[in-house]
Amino acid sequence: MSNDAIVLLKNDHKEIRRLFRDFSSTGAEAHAAQASLATKIIEALTVHTYIENETMYPEVRQLLPDLEDDVLESYEEHHVADLLVMELTPMSPSDERFRPKMTVLIENVTHHMDEEEQDWFPKVRAGLGRKQLSEIGERMLEQKKTAPRSPTQPSALKKVVDAVIA
Ligand SMILES: [Fe+2]
Ligand SMILES: [Fe+2]
Repeated sequence: MSNDAIVLLKNDHKEIRRLFRDFSSTGAEAHAAQASLATKIIEALTVHTYIENETMYPEVRQLLPDLEDDVLESYEEHHVADLLVMELTPMSPSDERFRPKMTVLIENVTHHMDEEEQDWFPKVRAGLGRKQLSEIGERMLEQKKTAPRSPTQPSALKKVVDAVIA
């Protein structure tokens, strides 16, 4: 398996998109399937957001100062997704707001991943060497092992609280 940071993040995106498709194709009454897919989506997003926030974004911000505005916008897009995820976590598929809220999450995150893939990753790849990208990737792989898996875990919660009260 490649330890290139961009390859790693793109693989995460692919898995997240697959879960989004599965969720969107569930029938209106398929509540059990929706609940289990929502759990998987929340877990995948919590881990992915964590490694980008903790490692990828601060590294790129430091190494490629020209990309700072993109990084700052990405933090805000992550923050919006975090808030939706926090609201969705205790909700049940029988709640009338569950599916529309999930749809808004899917639309927001898809837009964010499209931007990363089409615009941001190419700029990062052009600015950083292969060695730097594998070092960052290596750290993110390591971090995945202990990353929070639900937004209610303290390490995930802290950043949402910080962002709201800061
Ligand atoms: Fe991101
Ligand atoms: Fe991403």
